[in-house]
Amino acid sequence: MEVVIVPDAKAGGELIAGAMAQLLRRKPDALLGVATGSTPLPVYQALADQVRSGAVDTSRARIAQLDEYVGLPADHPESYRSVVRREVLEPLGIGPDAFMGPDGSAEDVQAACEAYDKALGEAGGIDLQLLGIGTDGHIGFNEPCSSLVSRTRIKTLTEQTRADNARFFEGDVDQVPHHVITQGIGTILEARHLVLLATGEGKADAIAATVEGPLAAVCPASALQLHPHATVVVDEAAAGKLK
Ligand code: F6R
Repeated sequence: MEVVIVPDAKAGGELIAGAMAQLLRRKPDALLGVATGSTPLPVYQALADQVRSGAVDTSRARIAQLDEYVGLPADHPESYRSVVRREVLEPLGIGPDAFMGPDGSAEDVQAACEAYDKALGEAGGIDLQLLGIGTDGHIGFNEPCSSLVSRTRIKTLTEQTRADNARFFEGDVDQVPHHVITQGIGTILEARHLVLLATGEGKADAIAATVEGPLAAVCPASALQLHPHATVVVDEAAAGKLK
């Protein structure tokens, strides 16, 4: 695992957008796995700048979503499908046909999970998966004690994660769904390159456990220790508890 400490979130965004741009120049139809939440926004903004300046061509790029709330209509502004459309597809000029994500409104959620895992395989697998990290060490929505070989499936959010995400729902934790579909840790580990971005001191404990702690399901992100090509990009605050 490679750890890169950057001065701030903007620098982290530019670094990772640069890696994505380089990948797209080498493989124009690369499948990019995207996370939602606040942390990755500087990455998408920096990549959109590169698209606007003509430094990178996203006309053949493909996007795969990491996770989704269960029970929110797809057109709800905080469904991750809406967020990815707003923050990733539209700014990067990528059409809906080049997007894939789990169906959080499916009647048969289990079947939707299996279908998504299968679709990722049929698409050739994810070339670069961008990850955030929860304050409890989750990646995707694999909460602590998730199986390290898990596949895409339904999970229950912890109260801590629901409280962390209430800011996207007018600060009202009661509006945050209880359930999500998330790529499993085993699914995530199949991406060819994992890039985790963490910023702010609120992530410092989780980053220390990810990078220096034992490989343990209690910190799902520690599974990155198993991956042959994992890059952890942290600002100085998130790196604050590394030895
Ligand atoms: C979102 C996701 C989550 C977030 C994590 C951090 O798609 O998979 O793991 O990356 O909850 O969220 P932020 O970046 O909002 O702190």
